[in-house]
Amino acid sequence: MADLRRLPAHLLRGTFIWASHRPSLGRLATAVPLTRPMVRRFVAGETLAEALEACDRLRGAGMHTTLDILGESVTSATAAREAATRYVDTLGALAQRGLDGNVSLKLTQMGLDVDPALCRENVGRVAAKAAEVGAFVRVDMEDSPKTEATLTLVRELRATTPDVGAVIQSYLRRSADDVERLIAEGTRVRLCKGAYDEPAEVAFPTKGEVDASYRRLMERLLRDGVYPALATHDDGLIADAEAFARREGIDPSRFEFQMLYGIRRDLQARLVREGWNVRVYVPYGREWYPYFMRRLAERPANVLFLLRSVVREGR
Ligand code: FDA
Repeated sequence: MADLRRLPAHLLRGTFIWASHRPSLGRLATAVPLTRPMVRRFVAGETLAEALEACDRLRGAGMHTTLDILGESVTSATAAREAATRYVDTLGALAQRGLDGNVSLKLTQMGLDVDPALCRENVGRVAAKAAEVGAFVRVDMEDSPKTEATLTLVRELRATTPDVGAVIQSYLRRSADDVERLIAEGTRVRLCKGAYDEPAEVAFPTKGEVDASYRRLMERLLRDGVYPALATHDDGLIADAEAFARREGIDPSRFEFQMLYGIRRDLQARLVREGWNVRVYVPYGREWYPYFMRRLAERPANVLFLLRSVVREGR
């Protein structure tokens, strides 16, 4: 096991991202019960009831939530329509329970690869339901071939349903321009580093450059953006955001930190204690495989954790 630590991080990252695109591996992984304890660290459950319970628990701890129904890269119109219907039902359930009306979805889950018009119709249906119950829809950002289509669709949707937001990835070279445009349009932005494997032509290749880009975009958004969301678990960037907000007199009510379910719960709790807004991204559903692989890619040490739990379960 210890040998894994000696493998270069970028090699492990590339391998997990590669594996995340292999549905056959996904079918295998989801059929093996041994992976469950590890998966449950990152995923709130398989059912809506379990996800609502997690949101309720987090609310008790002073946190906001955004609910994500796991699923992406659907290959049929039927699957895309069903995914949209699940979101509509989830928005109804959140409203009924008085929980945070905030969901995150992916365009390939809504059928972007099947038919862009169908995708637009599906997301439109979710956004209309959100408007009806006073909720917010965040369109997650996927890999770079989808960036333009995603930002265009968010723009179109906002013409009729303004409570729709975008995501910007600091590793993309184009993001500085995108952020200026989104600020000018008044679109709410979630800023993250980016979770896919991108070529150096479109993305900064080193952590130093990605972090520097994050810092620049974060300051732009904190100064002039509409309720930006700083999505990161990076202690250094979070400390910089806190210092920048204090120095510039930016009230804590004007932005929020976002983190993923099960990651850096200590940091989530500390930020709440200190009076900052924190929103936790709560994924649920059976199609956890690509999401889970990206979490392994971000932190190869998770693999050791996984292997240890597999060994324990196998005894
Ligand atoms: P970084 O990877 O440098 O990690 C900083 C520290 O955080 C690590 O040292 C470790 O302590 C902890 N950490 C990070 N990842 C971990 C993991 N998987 N397991 C355990 N600890 C971990 N991406 C994207 O491309 N499109 C999107 O729409 C979104 N949406 C999104 C929403 C939210 C709320 C968050 C927090 C993140 C995303 N992301 C995303 C993912 C994002 O792009 C990025 O891959 C992860 O957040 C990891 O990067 P960090 O900013 O945490 O920094």
